[in-house]
Amino acid sequence: MLQQGGFHVEDDRKKFKATQYIKCMVPMLVVGIVLASVILALSVLTLTKINKKVDEIQIHKQRSITGLARSQQSSNSFLSSSIRIDEVMSHLNELQRIATASNGTRAVNTLGFNRTLDYITNYLKANTNLKVTHSFFNIKDFQLARDPVLISSMNGVIKNYTYSTNLSVADFYHVEFSTSLNLSTFTQITVIPNVACSDNDWNTAIPPPAGRIVLVKRGICPFQDKVQLAEKYNAKAVLLYNDGQTPERISPVEISVSQENTLPVLFLSFTVGQALATASQTAPKNVSVRLVIDVKDLPPLPVGNICADTPTGDPTQTIIIGSHSDSVPGGPGINDNGSGSAANLALAVALARLFRTPSYHKFRYRVRFCWWGAEEIGLLGSDHHVKQAKNSSIIGERLSDYLVNLNYDMLASPNYIFGIYDGRTAKNDTPAQALPGSNKITSLFRDWFVEQHLPWDYTDFSGRSDYGPFLAEGIVAGGLFSGASGVKSVEQRNRYDAILGQGLGGIPDITEDPCYHKACDSIENINIFAYEKMVQAAAYALENLGRKEDLRSWLYPRKRMP
Ligand SMILES: *[C@@H]1O[C@H](CO)[C@@H](O)[C@H](O)[C@H]1NC(C)=O
Ligand SMILES: *[C@@H]1O[C@H](CO)[C@@H](O)[C@H](O)[C@H]1NC(C)=O
Ligand SMILES: *[C@@H]1O[C@H](CO)[C@@H](O)[C@H](O)[C@H]1NC(C)=O
Ligand SMILES: *[C@@H]1O[C@H](CO)[C@@H](O)[C@H](O)[C@H]1NC(C)=O
Ligand SMILES: *[C@@H]1O[C@H](CO)[C@@H](O)[C@H](O)[C@H]1NC(C)=O
Ligand SMILES: *[C@@H]1O[C@H](CO)[C@@H](O)[C@H](O)[C@H]1NC(C)=O
Ligand SMILES: *[C@@H]1O[C@H](CO)[C@@H](O)[C@H](O)[C@H]1NC(C)=O
Ligand SMILES: *[C@@H]1O[C@H](CO)[C@@H](O)[C@H](O)[C@H]1NC(C)=O
Ligand SMILES: [Zn+2]
Repeated sequence: MLQQGGFHVEDDRKKFKATQYIKCMVPMLVVGIVLASVILALSVLTLTKINKKVDEIQIHKQRSITGLARSQQSSNSFLSSSIRIDEVMSHLNELQRIATASNGTRAVNTLGFNRTLDYITNYLKANTNLKVTHSFFNIKDFQLARDPVLISSMNGVIKNYTYSTNLSVADFYHVEFSTSLNLSTFTQITVIPNVACSDNDWNTAIPPPAGRIVLVKRGICPFQDKVQLAEKYNAKAVLLYNDGQTPERISPVEISVSQENTLPVLFLSFTVGQALATASQTAPKNVSVRLVIDVKDLPPLPVGNICADTPTGDPTQTIIIGSHSDSVPGGPGINDNGSGSAANLALAVALARLFRTPSYHKFRYRVRFCWWGAEEIGLLGSDHHVKQAKNSSIIGERLSDYLVNLNYDMLASPNYIFGIYDGRTAKNDTPAQALPGSNKITSLFRDWFVEQHLPWDYTDFSGRSDYGPFLAEGIVAGGLFSGASGVKSVEQRNRYDAILGQGLGGIPDITEDPCYHKACDSIENINIFAYEKMVQAAAYALENLGRKEDLRSWLYPRKRMP
């Protein structure tokens, strides 16, 4: 999963709760209030033991694994019941082994990434008759020629800020794909109102942003969108800053902007950003900065995508299932996105195995499983694939040959939610043809969770993962997400506890994955109970779509003639 704020905004997701369950709970309001008070008291206690929380998750996971034994098997899908969780876990263990042997990471441009691709390819070749293809594309590479410098003058007081690769001590940090700038004279800043996501924010900024350094707060939309608006309004450089909403949101964050970006960008801590914003409101309102960003371009880096196709099924009607194969540089990426990658591999192997069973009817549609490279630095692998498809005239490789993209990112978050992309929250500029089908995919997953007596939540569908490039071109999309930096609410914990049994609902008031994008995102960070359910849901959805009489009409219903 791309860094939140960059590519998912957990704040928004809270608006899209599973409302029907909330409605069901209304009659139980009185009971609920009593319960909530007890739980509130308990969670206050929990809050006082912050350093014990990760331990609690471990205990919770143990219980979850015990819960696995009595969890019911899904009976409504051959594919779903033919996938074994130990098989999925063996792939995940292999990814952990690769990370451990490769300096703890599987990020692009590391041996760990190449070894991940080799593992997936070799496993598919040895165990399936799927047609495996590799495609390489280049991404920009850069190096800082020297540490960047940031100096401010706030109403006459000069301050020189600390750059450090240790983000917990840094005042500011560089941004990947920023351009260079040597601003040796103080230049005034303009504070963009709100969170700089709308034209209105930029048009009402005083003084106007053109030619100035703009100060932009984190929130609501991806950082890339904010920086694109800064380009549109001719800003000279962008200072992004954290929003301070929780203790983890004070330090600067490591992010990247688009490879096509043309502006110098730095990321400031909440403390520094807030000080600059406050000084700009204080007479004589003379706030300016000097800065140096010195970036050296390096030769482009090759990054690989892998796709594996069923040899049967109509190539002009393809179901494409994706997960990302890279991790962030700072960790092994076992939940993010090893869990998606391993699930996708197990799904591919299980389908190929079933297709060898004579009594199992093969799908009418081709299925293509893909592992995208460079998701963590801007959905580059999936974006490349979509661009190629748009430009292709080869049957089976054209964009028009894709019916639907299912995306599996993080599926095994320790303090998980059963998150379903909510088709209704697609971005406003999503082509209308993709909407009815995407909403149907949402319902398909939701109905499965309901039928399995499992809780679920809607989760953000604004394109901040590898399905984004497909959806933006009008291809129906959907998928699952077990949560990253969103905080599990008391309401969610209660609802999950009520359905799954006391103690299985997770821990409220902490994030869904405390190891998100960290070195501790290891094999220890996996909730096997949640993972198995998510993999079964993914298998069910694939088989259900594969069995449709006319999938294209189901996903893209024609408008009725007037
Ligand atoms: C691990 O890092 C060290 C030091 O940077 C480097 O020499 C070594 O080649 C790396 N090993 C792998 C497997 O990437
Ligand atoms: C990874 O593989 C690519 C393509 O074969 C190669 O160019 C690159 O040097 C490899 N990277 C590492 C770190 O081994
Ligand atoms: C600001 O700090 C940097 C790094 O500590 C130092 O290299 C630079 O000379 C300082 N600049 C000024 C104007 O003090
Ligand atoms: C980063 O700085 C903090 C605070 O000084 C320190 O505790 C931590 O060990 C440092 N981390 C690294 C990786 O150097
Ligand atoms: C920035 O420009 C100043 C004055 O033009 C020059 O003295 C300085 O060396 C430059 N710094 C960098 C890092 O290029
Ligand atoms: C504003 O501050 C800058 C930088 O310290 C200074 O050069 C400039 O003269 C100040 N402008 C006014 C109007 O005080
Ligand atoms: C993880 O992989 C899935 C499946 O390809 C991908 O669609 C998704 O974007 C990735 N998730 C995240 C959060 O990076
Ligand atoms: C599209 O295809 C044409 C002809 O094959 C090729 O020349 C061109 O570079 C391609 N464009 C992109 C963006 O891949
Ligand atoms: Zn990620």
